[in-house]
Amino acid sequence: MNHLLKMNDLTPAELTHILDVADQLKAQQKAGGTPPLLAGKSVALMFSKTSTRTRTSFEVGVYQLGGLGCYMNAATELQAARGEPLRDTARVLGRYYDCIVWRTYRQSDLEELADYAGVPVINGLTDYAHPCQVLADLMTIRERRGPLAGQKLCFVGDGNNMANSIIIGGLLAGMRVTCVCPPAYRPAADVLGFARRYGADFELLADPKAGVRDADVVVTAVWNSAAAESETERRMRDFRGYQLTSRLLEGAKPGCMVLHCLPAHRGEEISNAVFEDHADEIFTEAENRLHVQKAVLAILLAGL
Ligand code: CP
Repeated sequence: MNHLLKMNDLTPAELTHILDVADQLKAQQKAGGTPPLLAGKSVALMFSKTSTRTRTSFEVGVYQLGGLGCYMNAATELQAARGEPLRDTARVLGRYYDCIVWRTYRQSDLEELADYAGVPVINGLTDYAHPCQVLADLMTIRERRGPLAGQKLCFVGDGNNMANSIIIGGLLAGMRVTCVCPPAYRPAADVLGFARRYGADFELLADPKAGVRDADVVVTAVWNSAAAESETERRMRDFRGYQLTSRLLEGAKPGCMVLHCLPAHRGEEISNAVFEDHADEIFTEAENRLHVQKAVLAILLAGL
């Protein structure tokens, strides 16, 4: 593993290794602290979009591993915001830093950065993929519900970066995956192509009731994360019936787990009651961003 750009880059063995290292680092952190695996290393934390969890969990994670994490607002502070070519920014940062985390819009831009940086690049979210989030989701499911293989995971909502990544991550982990979204909001075509190789272990549906049936884990995310505000009204119409409610979850396995990558829009993709019933799982999922990203950094930069 040279970079973490999207879930498709991982083999099942690499995915399991990241989760194993994350469990170990979490246990060490709870017992007093993790070893300084990034001592002397620096990580550029480049954000072209807003973030709470990704930014702060990387900042804290690099610190806990003994390295230096430098946040930079790529939308307003770097010369890239005034037109410096991306490949030049990549070649400069790659000479100062040992790793670059970038939150941006186009996956192709992230891949160009990785082509030119000469150091590992980690996807902090693009319009196509959110691998750090899905690794934290899988860590949380395994931590709470045991082995992932054979569990049914159902994603309900927009076929966006979260759907793209959770479909691939769940299938790589041996889960049965159902994705439920309105027909106009399907996941990326290449993700559906990947998923179809798993035969009956993958289903793409439009009916939330059918999708959540017997699910061990139900996952959702905001309906307009990557969309313009002007689209909100149309999306609220198109996603009517896709909210995770107590009634919808009656069809899932009793005691099913509910995850949400946050921030949540209560009353839109998830009801307040479902959110609060599952808040401990959801905030453990947020906490696990820290541990799983430390694992990714330790594997990429310290050869774990
Ligand atoms: N889930 C997630 O990526 O959160 P932030 O947008 O706050 O980083």
